[in-house]
This record gives sequence, C-alpha cells and structure tokens, in this order.
Amino acid sequence: MTTSPRRYHITTFGCQMNKADSERMAGILEDMGFEWSEDPNQANVILYNTCTIRDNAEQKVYSYLGRQAKRKHEQPDLTLIVAGCVAQQEGEALLRRVPELDLVMGPQHANRLKDLLESVLDGNQVVATEAVHIIEDITKPRRDSSVTAWVNVIYGCNERCTYCVVPNVRGVEQSRTPEAIRAEMVELGKQGYKEITLLGQNIDAYGRDLPGTTPEGRHLHTLTDLLYYVHDVPGIERLRFATSHPRYFTERLIKACAELPKVCEHFHIPFQSGDNEILKAMSRGYTHEKYRRIIDTVRRYMPDASISADAIVGFPGETEAQFENTLQLVEDIGFDLLNTAAYSPRPGTPAALWDNQLSEEVKSDRLQRLNHLVNLKAAERSQRYLGRIEEVLVEDQNLKDKTQVMGRTGGNRLTFFTGDINELKGQLVKVKITEVRPFSLTGEPVEVRQAITA
Ligand code: SAH
Ligand code: SF4
Ligand code: F3S
Repeated sequence: MTTSPRRYHITTFGCQMNKADSERMAGILEDMGFEWSEDPNQANVILYNTCTIRDNAEQKVYSYLGRQAKRKHEQPDLTLIVAGCVAQQEGEALLRRVPELDLVMGPQHANRLKDLLESVLDGNQVVATEAVHIIEDITKPRRDSSVTAWVNVIYGCNERCTYCVVPNVRGVEQSRTPEAIRAEMVELGKQGYKEITLLGQNIDAYGRDLPGTTPEGRHLHTLTDLLYYVHDVPGIERLRFATSHPRYFTERLIKACAELPKVCEHFHIPFQSGDNEILKAMSRGYTHEKYRRIIDTVRRYMPDASISADAIVGFPGETEAQFENTLQLVEDIGFDLLNTAAYSPRPGTPAALWDNQLSEEVKSDRLQRLNHLVNLKAAERSQRYLGRIEEVLVEDQNLKDKTQVMGRTGGNRLTFFTGDINELKGQLVKVKITEVRPFSLTGEPVEVRQAITA
C-alpha cells in the first residue's frame, strides 16, 4: 500500500531568532517523514512562526490564519500550528480566537515540536507556553542556505526596555555552553558552510547565566571569550554576531573583533533614540554620548567598519526637539543601514499604558523624515566602496539577472557581479566595485580566493 507523502509548510515572520527556530522545526518535521511544500494549500501541516514586535506584525498572522482555518472545514485532517512570539503572547486566547488551531507553541518549545505534534496527531489540542529550560539543540536544522548559517548562542532577554515584548515572549536569558556552540560550528564547517552568524536578542549578555568567574571577578564566559574560542573552527571563513546592546558593548570586545581576522567588520548596535530623556524613559541604560563613544572606539580600531542599528520614532512623549536629536545622531554617525519603526504600543509592556501617546500622523511624519535621511546617509556611505576591491562571499544567483551571482562584503553590503553560481557558490571572490546604490553594489570579479580548509 502506498500513501501519499505528508507535506508541511512553514511561513516565518519576524527576526533572525525566528528564522533560526523555523529551520530547526523544519528539520524536526523532515525527521518525522514530512516533505517541504512551498505552497501552503498543498500541505497537511501548516506552521506559522509568528512575530509580535509591532501590531502590524501580529495582525499579518491573523489574516493568514483566517484563510487556512476556512480551508480546514473542507479538509479536516489539516494540522494548523501557531508557533513563535504571538503564540507565546496569546496562548489559550488564540484558541478562542481561532478554534481550528491544533497547536499553539511558544518559542522556547521549538525543539519539542516532535512530542507536541505527536500529541496533536493523537487527537489533542495542545498549548505549550509554559517557561521551560530550552533543551539543547539536538535537532538537525533544515537550513535555507548552504553557505551561511545561524547559530544560537543565547536565548531570551533579561532587559526591560519599556516598549518591548521580547522578554515576555522569549523568556529569561539562557546561554548555550561554549562546547555545544563550537560543536555545532565544527559540524557546519564539515558540511561546507563558510559563514556563521552567532545569534542572541542581547548577545552581549552571553555567559552571564553560566557558572564561573575569573580571578578579576569577570564572568568566565563572555561573548569576547566565545569569539576567541570558536574563531578557528575549520572551514568557517567568516563570523558575525547580532544583536548588540550599547550598554554592554565593551572595548575588550571591539579589540577582539579587530584582532580576529574572521570576525567581519560589521556591527549591529541599535540605539533606538538620540535623546537622553527618551532613552531613559525607554530604560535603555545609556546616553547618546555613550553610544557615540562606542562608535568612536569601533572606528578607532576599525576605521572602515560598517555600522547598522535600529531606531524607534514617536515613543510616548517624544517632542519634536527630542526627535530632532535622533535625526542629529543619524546625521553625525552615518549608518550603513538603519532599521526604523514607528512606536507601536504592545500588550504587557509599561509604555503602552502611559497617557502621553503620540498620534499616528505625528509618528508616520517622523518616520518618513527619518527614512529620508537614512537613505541619503546610506548612499553617502556606499560611495566609499566605488573603485575598491571587496571580498564577497557568494551565496546565490541574482534572482533578477541569472547571469549574475550575489553575495555580501565583510561589511554586509549586498553585492552583484557576473558569474556562474555553480562554480562560485560558497567562494570568496575579490570584486572590484564599479557601481554603488544606497544598499547594494555591483562589481567585476578580480580573483577567487582558495578557501584555506584545515
Ligand atoms: N534586542 C534588540 C532588538 C529587539 S527587537 C535590541 O535591544 O535592540 C528589534 C527592534 O524592533 C528593536 O531594536 C526596536 O527598534 C524595534 N521595536 C521593538 N519594540 C518596538 C515597539 N513596541 N514599537 C516599535 N518598534 C519596536
Ligand atoms: Fe527588547 Fe530591550 Fe531586550 Fe532588545 S534588549 S530584546 S529591545 S527588551
Ligand atoms: Fe518578533 Fe519575536 Fe523576533 S516578537 S522580532 S520574532 S523575538
């Protein structure tokens, strides 16, 4: 007797943590014998891995879910799963809103998908949102890329920024051990991966929850120590990490990045606001002066480092003058990339309850003005690449022009050049930059570096 293959589909919203979780959950489903389906309408299991950082991210999920919930009435054996941050935030309430759901699972439960799904297939409706110790990642992720990979180093966040849902939905900080992280990286190196991005919502907090202190009283395990510990993993040519918090970004870390050749000279350090009063109301724990000092130090060690960040406009009570302090910071620093957002009040966060909320008009006006400046500055920053030779790690074909391949510079600029993907995938190529746009570059290949594999 032949049975048609069971198919699964995953749609992922939100940040890199969610993308990494989705790759692990996909790995679990394939282990269980499911096959990937690009089209959700051909799948027996549909999983939405959700984000709730802003209201529009959350609402998107409900519209997707509504469609599949309808389909379930014609196809009762369809399994509908909501994972990730909306699942954690809403929990049982999600079942009341969408009774067709089979499984609601928070981010801490991603590695437990097999057990949870088996319980669903036994006929249960399951909600898994209790705080748990995250079990070590023994799953084999189904990774989207065969060149670059994410490796989680710390889960959760212990900060309490007054606008942010992440601590509520991702739980407290849980660091993986350096040994487990290195072992995963060694495996990736063997499989031919060339670049690894170490992930954490607040990656500078790495190791705070692990035991041990140095004779000087420092934590024994820090991000800096981790970089030294993993930088020589065979086959891995490039290392990145995200996201950094200005409060914990140390000179020791900056020095390590300058010293270790595989660590890319790209730093993602969100500042959120350029105004000290607003930073205080956000509970960020630093001033704009301190932020500027960090960037100065980075540039003192690595004059050419590329800097990206996140910023929020229209935080409760933000005056025009305070907003202009954010514009000033952006003007002064010259970011290579800035993710901007209008403040969105989130359930369960302190700032959502304050009575000094700004109107949508003010917020969107400020967002437009900031974005305009960001584009100007990014275009300026791109200019410095013109005529230079940059090393590009080739990831894929240029989907818009199949005669070209695409990859990234060490500074994380998307770069296109003419070449055959079958020959160049995973290669580091020296490219002479002939054309620059605000967020991408075009060039001509000069030389392919033979990867040094130990
Ligand atoms: N851990 C990182 C980023 C977390 S979330 C940090 O500390 O910076 C990613 C980005 O979403 C944040 O940097 C922030 O700019 C934005 N964000 C978070 N909560 C938001 C909210 N309520 N409204 C608008 N933007 C928000
Ligand atoms: Fe949210 Fe702040 Fe934690 Fe970043 S550091 S995830 S903004 S609470
Ligand atoms: Fe969104 Fe959750 Fe990431 S809320 S930004 S997916 S941690």
